[in-house]
Amino acid sequence: MQEILQKIEQLQRAAESSIQSAIDEKMTEQVRIDFLGKNSPLTELLKTVGKLPPSERPVIGDAVNKAKDYIQLLMFKKKADIDAKTMGDRMARDRLDVTLPGRGQQLGSLHPITQVRDRIEALFSSIGFDVSEGFEIEDEWHNFEALNIPAHHPARNEQDTFYLENGKLLRTHTSPVQIRYMLEHQPPMRMIAPGRVYRRDFDATHTPMFHQTEGLVIDRQVNFGHLKQMISQFLRRFFEKNDLQVRFRASYFPFTEPSAEADMQCVLCDGKGCSVCGNGWLEILGCGMVHPDVLAAGGIDSNEFTGYAFGFGMDRLAMLYFGIPDLRLVFENDIRFLRQF
Ligand code: PHE
Repeated sequence: MQEILQKIEQLQRAAESSIQSAIDEKMTEQVRIDFLGKNSPLTELLKTVGKLPPSERPVIGDAVNKAKDYIQLLMFKKKADIDAKTMGDRMARDRLDVTLPGRGQQLGSLHPITQVRDRIEALFSSIGFDVSEGFEIEDEWHNFEALNIPAHHPARNEQDTFYLENGKLLRTHTSPVQIRYMLEHQPPMRMIAPGRVYRRDFDATHTPMFHQTEGLVIDRQVNFGHLKQMISQFLRRFFEKNDLQVRFRASYFPFTEPSAEADMQCVLCDGKGCSVCGNGWLEILGCGMVHPDVLAAGGIDSNEFTGYAFGFGMDRLAMLYFGIPDLRLVFENDIRFLRQF
C-alpha cells in the first residue's frame, strides 16, 4: 500500500511540474490528457481499487481523488493565467487607431407622405381643427348614399370601387368621414381627415391606394368666401409662398352645392408653364358648400347651420412640395429614393 501511495505522490508531482512548464492552452490540454484522461495512470489506478484488500480501498481511493482534485485545481489556475496573458498580449499588440473614420450611423427618416401629412395636420391644428380618421373599410351608406351619391351615379360603378365579399367596400374618398364626424359631434365643428383611399386605377399617375385629406367646417353663417380664404391660406402656408395665386372654377360634386375646384399657380415654374403644369396652373382640390341633404344625413339642421367641405390628394401635394417627378416612386419604397427626404 505504501508503494501505491508513493506512486500517487510521484504522479502528482510530475503533473505539477508539467503544468508549471505549460505555456499555452494546447500544452495544458495535453497535461489534462496525460494526468486526468481516460488512460492516465491515476484513472487506471482508480480502476484497480476494487481489487485491493477492503481495508486499503478507502485509503487509496481517497488519495487518488485528492490527487486528481489537486491537479484539476492547478490546471484551472494555469488556464486563468494563460487567458490573462493572452489578453494582455493582444492588448499590447492591437492598437486602437483613433484616426480611423467611424462606421457611422444610418439615420432613418419619415416617408415623404408622412412628412406632408404631419405638416397638414400641424397647419390645421394650429387654427383649431380636429383631426379625425374614419375607417378605410366603409359601407355604401357612408361612402355614397349619405353623400348624396345615389345608386345610379357613375362613381358607384364597379370599375372604380373595390367591393369586399361582406358587402362593404374600401372607401373611395375621405368624404365619408364628414358623415361620421357630423353624427358624432355638434356644430360648430372644424375637422380634417387625412388617410388612405382606394380606387381600381393603376397607371403612371394613378395607384390603387392613394392619400386624401378631407376638410369640414360647419357653423352658423359659414359662406363660400370663408371657404376660398381657408383654401388659399392653407396652400400659401403649406408651400411657404405668401403670394401664391389660387383660383376657383365652378365644378360639380353630389355632396356640395355650389361646388368648385381650386387651382394653384404651379410652384415648380412659378406659373410660367412647364412640363408638369402645362399652362402654369395645377388642379389641386375639390370643394364646396355642404349640400343640405348631406347635412341632414349627418343629423344637422340646414336651416340653422351651413358649412363647407374640401378634399385634396396628399400624394400630389407631396410631389409638388418635394419635387418628385413620378407618383410610382412614392410607393416603391426604394431606400435610395426615401433616403433623400
Ligand atoms: N371627395 C372628392 C373627391 O374625392 C373631393 C371633395 C371633397 C370635393 C369634399 C368636395 C368636397 O374627389
